[in-house]
Amino acid sequence: MLLKKYILTTGAAALVLSSLSLPNAASAQKIPSLKDTFKKDFGIGTAMNNAQIDERDPATTAFIASQFNMATPENIMKSALIHPKWDTYNFEMADKLIVFGKKHNIKINGHTLIWHSQLPSFIRGIKNADSIRTFFTDHIKTVAGRYDGKVLSWDVVNEALNEDGTMRKSVFLQYLGDDFVTEAFRLAQQAAPKTELYYNDYNNEQPAKRAGCMALIKKIKAAGVRIDGVGIQGHWHVGKVPFKDIEESILQYAALGVKVMFTELDIEVLPRNFQGADVGQRMTANAQSNPYPEALPDSVQNQLAADYENLFRLFLKHKDKVTRVTFWGVNDADSWLNNWPIRGRTSYPLLFDRKNQPKPAFEKVIALKN
Ligand code: XIL
Repeated sequence: MLLKKYILTTGAAALVLSSLSLPNAASAQKIPSLKDTFKKDFGIGTAMNNAQIDERDPATTAFIASQFNMATPENIMKSALIHPKWDTYNFEMADKLIVFGKKHNIKINGHTLIWHSQLPSFIRGIKNADSIRTFFTDHIKTVAGRYDGKVLSWDVVNEALNEDGTMRKSVFLQYLGDDFVTEAFRLAQQAAPKTELYYNDYNNEQPAKRAGCMALIKKIKAAGVRIDGVGIQGHWHVGKVPFKDIEESILQYAALGVKVMFTELDIEVLPRNFQGADVGQRMTANAQSNPYPEALPDSVQNQLAADYENLFRLFLKHKDKVTRVTFWGVNDADSWLNNWPIRGRTSYPLLFDRKNQPKPAFEKVIALKN
């Protein structure tokens, strides 16, 4: 597949560049913008890591601002990082993200208030319900309260379900019981009346887990508590994207009166022997586990492009229900899939390559609107 050449500068700098007779400059053109292309359809988001939030590389900052109008912190708002000790919060990076969002016109989705993973280490020492409840209540009040009016939304609860739709045996289920999800939304609603409140999970487009997720949403609503949206993480595998389940999920969730979002989109191209995104699940490396250390073969690249094209076609078909599509990382080098479920692999799950150059998948997605 022939790839277009793009220059990575915009505005005045781009004009100067194209007027110079540099090799490539003549054929180079400005990269189309995802956020502008889908402006009338849905928000386009990315996960942001520490270096990006810190604006350590100006070119990266400019690139993020040109492509995305929404962002989710990849880690810094998780409880282990924002609430490291029982009575200590660390808001430094989260506050920086708020500033970044304001400066670059990017709306922030807080991720995440209540999750069984990346919990502060002190939680492990707690063996009674009262203390878990105190942590749960104080955490939601303090964090959601601080950012009310500053973030657009919160993933209030992340990954509370098992694959069969039953409740995951987390520390919250164990000590607080089945109602902890509703309680989390009730506390978030009180602390953050101006913030949209979402439930977020992976594989919740699969029928059994979807049924559990719909039951949770109904239960929250039946208690008179507000829930504004559901996030389908969207960690899928090349050639195996479950389009039918995804479409049914968009329709069924929307029928419950909640917004539908794709919140952590990436499409894995490396071998994996399970589906989904349970961060606790790992695989042992072998001679076949890192097949493309140098480059992605054309056949896989083309399948990846076709998968993204079909996904965005589906999102556009249901743009009245789908409010946001967020990629889990800016480019392939940023992706968590280079290190999960096996460390140190070379993955290619996103629309931009390691130099922020558009991949064939990007061209296909943009072409849907041209
Ligand atoms: C991942 C991050 O990308 C990694 O940097 C971190 O080490 C583990 O968590 N589901 C989620 C995200 O909701 O928070 C996870 O993010 C990926 C799976």
